[in-house]
Amino acid sequence: MNRIESEFVFALCNPGSEKALKLEVEALASGWRPSYQRRGFATFKSDAAFSLDSLDSLDSLDAPLACARRLCLSLGKSTTPQEALQRVEAASVIHHARYFERKMQGLPCAVRPKTGQIIGTVVELGPAEFWAGLHRHAPFLSPDPAGDPGIEMPPTSPSRAWLKLEEAIRFFDLEFTPADIVVELGCAPGGVVLALLQRGVSVIGVDPAKMAAVVTDSAIASRQDVPAGRPWFYHCRKPAALASKRDLGHGVTWFMSDMNQAPDVVLKECARFRRMAPGIHGALITLKLTDLSQVADRCRWVAALTDMGFKTIRLQQLGAHHKEFALLGMC
Ligand SMILES: C[S@@+](CC[C@H](N)C(=O)[O-])C[C@H]1O[C@@H](n2cnc3c(N)ncnc32)[C@H](O)[C@@H]1O
Repeated sequence: MNRIESEFVFALCNPGSEKALKLEVEALASGWRPSYQRRGFATFKSDAAFSLDSLDSLDSLDAPLACARRLCLSLGKSTTPQEALQRVEAASVIHHARYFERKMQGLPCAVRPKTGQIIGTVVELGPAEFWAGLHRHAPFLSPDPAGDPGIEMPPTSPSRAWLKLEEAIRFFDLEFTPADIVVELGCAPGGVVLALLQRGVSVIGVDPAKMAAVVTDSAIASRQDVPAGRPWFYHCRKPAALASKRDLGHGVTWFMSDMNQAPDVVLKECARFRRMAPGIHGALITLKLTDLSQVADRCRWVAALTDMGFKTIRLQQLGAHHKEFALLGMC
């Protein structure tokens, strides 16, 4: 492969998250300085030029930037898509992205990349503005162009939370089986519960608010009385702080929260639930922020999950998010 040299990286993000992304880059102290920017697209210039004799060096781009749905080594701007494609010809998979209808969109790609594969991305920002970039596919990176899974929410879903969960599952490549039991704090009206039931996963939902009929159809009256052979939903209709070990019973494997509460409140509950149910080996938390610049608190959130015993921790803004981030912890 030819020698690749570039001093630039580019990130694709949700339009409106560019400022928070720059704050994250500044906090990394990696020597990257903000350069050219458009909505949903930001380039950074590195102190030292990336001088890549081999594409293996792409691993050095593995920066923990929650606002970046995709991070690429930038191979520059072209005026035609053909020229941009030529720049990424070394890649084994090609992704196309574009800023369209006020969103940074990925165009569907039939090939699911394998870990280690080099992906070339061509980003269309205008009629004569095409950027080319490279990255290496790795665990917990979205397999989709621009980190956009293009998932459509079914009309039966009572809330957009269905979409947020499905996007997180796809982005992080999470696996659930019918043996899993998820406890979700802030479960009403039931978009997440519906998505989990559709995947054959049983759910204990904690929320004082009312659930939609589409999920109460699968409800059980008592945690002690679970049916065999079908996923069930148990509604623990109280605030999270009042839920007890008895409400959880045995066998809980995942913790989820979509409560509209401050991150510190949610993380405190996560710690308490993990103590009550030590079988919890994964946590997926929607952190709702008043301002995206709160992403600067990332270290505190990561430290809280580390203290709970989670080993692999990721913070990520998904396409379906507004002022929110998905915080994932896996044991
Ligand atoms: C965005 S909604 C959740 C959407 C839901 N996950 C779904 O899938 O449809 C936020 C929910 O958090 C609940 N909530 C807020 N504070 C809570 C608490 N302390 N304990 C339990 N639920 C809480 C609210 O009642 C509300 O239903």
